[in-house]
Amino acid sequence: MKNICLNIDKAAVCKETVAAYEAQVKACMETLENGSGLGNDFLGWLHLPSSITAEHLADLKGAAQVLRENCEVVVVAGIGGSYLGARAVIEALSNSFQWLKKEQNGPIIVFAGHNIGEDYLYELTDYLKDKKFGVINISKSGTTTETALAFRLLKKQCEDQMGKEMAKKCIVAVTDAKKGAARVTADKEGYKTFIIPDNVGGRFSVLTPVGLLPIAVAGFDIEQLVAGACDMEKVCGSETPFCENPAAIYAAVRNELYKQGKKIEILVNYNPKLHYMNEWWKQLYGESEGKDGKGIYPSAVDFSTDLHSMGQWIQEGERTIFETVISVENPDNELRVPSDEENLDGLNFLAGKRVDEVNKMAELGTQLAHVDGGVPNMRLIVPQLSEYYLGQVIYFFEKACGISGYLLEVNPFNQPGVEAYKKNMFALLNKPGYEEESKAIQARL
Ligand code: PA5
Repeated sequence: MKNICLNIDKAAVCKETVAAYEAQVKACMETLENGSGLGNDFLGWLHLPSSITAEHLADLKGAAQVLRENCEVVVVAGIGGSYLGARAVIEALSNSFQWLKKEQNGPIIVFAGHNIGEDYLYELTDYLKDKKFGVINISKSGTTTETALAFRLLKKQCEDQMGKEMAKKCIVAVTDAKKGAARVTADKEGYKTFIIPDNVGGRFSVLTPVGLLPIAVAGFDIEQLVAGACDMEKVCGSETPFCENPAAIYAAVRNELYKQGKKIEILVNYNPKLHYMNEWWKQLYGESEGKDGKGIYPSAVDFSTDLHSMGQWIQEGERTIFETVISVENPDNELRVPSDEENLDGLNFLAGKRVDEVNKMAELGTQLAHVDGGVPNMRLIVPQLSEYYLGQVIYFFEKACGISGYLLEVNPFNQPGVEAYKKNMFALLNKPGYEEESKAIQARL
């Protein structure tokens, strides 16, 4: 089996410069391993893949099967780290047009709890009318407003439509072992629950039940996902020489580019199925590195779509950007451009070629143009979009993120800035316990 592979030939950082990072990167890796760095309470992700047991996977698959057998639709409720990983994997592996995913017999998966859009929630509840549906309520704190609000609506609708007993069967909670409202509700109602380990932060939690349960419910192979992550855990481990460790090299190159004034990293894909992988990556790097007045701004585009919108800026705008391209080697399907006798559209020069060949030439042509335009490029080559390789991609980015955060000298595992808006929102909504903040904020309005 091949591995994903990082190519830095066009990254505008010479081999000697990368090599000069070896000692520093190794020190960061040691700090991760021995748990002596900032945020060391949250290192459970580091050896998570290799610690997942067959029993745990069987338990997840069993719960998934109950939902698959009893539900036409499963709503996955969660936000941020309790949402994006599952969505990234499910969308990457799913058929783009059938809501019924690759696996035709399974339930339709929809997402909620990641916004407070009244229309979104109204339309969701309307869509669920007359459907047998289940809910996976995912929240580590168990108190996140967006998710709790959606769950309140969904729980009531589920019970009203299907009865208390059936609702109990079709609602699963993924939350803290002891604390939070999601735990209290689950225990009181007797829901099946899975625990989010204390030492795994939200954005590093896709390989816990947070991601694995919804992915299994969608009909995808969580054993293969974990196997890919496990293999990447070895590849990115301390035993691997620095120059062969993709996570070490990626962390070194992006930090070097940052020092050179490249303040924005754009994650690029050429496959619309990877849109939510971009979103997951943005959260992983944004929440981990954007603090203490520092951090590369993680941005993302879907090419070639966004070449027709953001392409101009990337080619000729301020030279503060670099790109990391996720390049999928092989599509799952084959489709060739047909020949046309009249050739009215002038496309016969493409006749007989695979659509993917056209896409790959767009990718190569763009890379050459952007490099000419002063945009350093890295490429993460992924053999195909499968559970196994997505597992590799997930672990690769997580490990590189831990190293990169320590290179930047921030705590990559906290997110103090996320609380600021919540405090204001609660004060504005007169949440009990926020009386002082409420007075202060009213004075500002
Ligand atoms: O990465 C994080 O910690 C956040 O994105 C959280 O996952 C997000 O805020 C949801 O939190 P919770 O799982 O507690 O509902």
